[in-house]
Amino acid sequence: MEKSFNNLKMMAWSDSWPKATAISNSNPAPFTAAELSEVTGDDFSLLPLDDLEYQSTQGDLELRQMMVNQWYSRSQVNDLMLTAGAQEALFIAFQAIVKKGDHVVCFTPCFEPLTLMPEQLGARITRLPLTDDWQIDFDALATALKDDAKVLVLNFPHNPTGAHISQQMLNEVLQLCAKQQVFVISDEVFRGLEHDPDKRLPAVANIYKNAISIGVMSKAFAMPAVRVGWLLCQNHQVYQRMLAIKNHLSICVSGLDVAFMKKAIPFDELIWQRSVALINFNKGLLNKALRHHPAFNCHMGEASATCYVVHDDARIWASDLADQRGFKVLPAHCFETDIQGFRLSLGIKNFQQILDSIWPQSN
Ligand SMILES: Cc1ncc(COP(=O)(O)O)c(C=O)c1O
Repeated sequence: MEKSFNNLKMMAWSDSWPKATAISNSNPAPFTAAELSEVTGDDFSLLPLDDLEYQSTQGDLELRQMMVNQWYSRSQVNDLMLTAGAQEALFIAFQAIVKKGDHVVCFTPCFEPLTLMPEQLGARITRLPLTDDWQIDFDALATALKDDAKVLVLNFPHNPTGAHISQQMLNEVLQLCAKQQVFVISDEVFRGLEHDPDKRLPAVANIYKNAISIGVMSKAFAMPAVRVGWLLCQNHQVYQRMLAIKNHLSICVSGLDVAFMKKAIPFDELIWQRSVALINFNKGLLNKALRHHPAFNCHMGEASATCYVVHDDARIWASDLADQRGFKVLPAHCFETDIQGFRLSLGIKNFQQILDSIWPQSN
C-alpha cells in the first residue's frame, strides 16, 4: 500500500515566493541574545554546558519541575514531556489518540496541521467555523460532539485570528466534552501572548484529565531557534503511548536548548511582555491604516501575534503583493476556511514601514 504525506498548503504557498519577505509569521520578532540580556538583566551571551550526552526521552527533570511549578500547578513532573517543537508534539498527540474512522472536531480558520494530521490518520473531520467575531458557536459545537466525537481540537489563543475565549467559555466547552467523553487536544502555543495578561487561561490538561496541552518556545518566548515544545497530560496511559511514539521520532531534545530554557524560563513574564507590548502597539497602527482601506476588514483578536484580515479578493491580492512588492502573507486556503482573507503578523518590528509598503499612504 502506498502511503504519502500531503504537503501543507501554507508551505506550498510560501515556497512559491522563496525570495519574498514573510510578514505573516505567527511568532513575534525573535530575540537576539543581546536583547534578551537587556530585557531580563541577565547575561545570555555564554551558556554553560559541561555534558554533551543524550537527554532522557521525557526531558530534563529539573527543567520539567521548573515548568510544572511555574505554569502547571495541578500537574506532576511526570505529566510533562519535552518534544522537538510543537509540531512534533502535535504529531505525537494525534498518533497517540486518533485512529482510522474516529470523529475529530476542529474550529476554522485553523493552523492547517490541526486538521491535516488527524485526517491523514484516517479520521473524519468536522470543521466548525468560528462566528464573524471569531467566537465559538456553542449550538454547533454541542451538535458536533454528540455525533460520536472522539477528539475536540482547541487552539486558544488562536492562530490565525488572535481570538481568545473567557474562562467561563472554556468551562462550558470542557463540560460539553466531559458529558460526551470527548478527549481534548489543546494547542496552547500562544499562551503568554494574551494582550491583557489577566485573560490568561489555565492549561486545559492542568484542569481536565482527558486532555493534552501543547506548548513551545517559538511563540510566546519568541525563540524559534530553541527547538523545544512540550506535551502535558495527566492520563498516564496516553502519556506512556506518547513516550513510546517519541522514541521513534526525535528521542530527546537538545541539551543546549535545555540549558537555554533553564536560564530563560525564570524571566517568562518579562520576555512575554516585550512581545505583547510590540503587538499592542502594532494593533493600533493597523487599525489606523485600515481606516483608509475599507475593502479590508479586521476583527482584531485579544491574544497571540497575528490577525486575520478579511478581503474579498485576498488570494489574488496576496499573490500580487508577493510578485510586485516582495511581501508574503498567507491567504484563506492555508487555514481551511472559506472566509476570504489573509493572516498578517502583529509581532513585526518596523511595522509602520511594512504597512506603508503594502498600503501606500496608509498613515
Ligand atoms: C497553532 C500552532 N501550533 C503549533 C505550531 C508549531 O510550532 P513550532 O513550529 O514551533 O513547532 C505552530 C506554528 O506556527 C502554530 O501556529
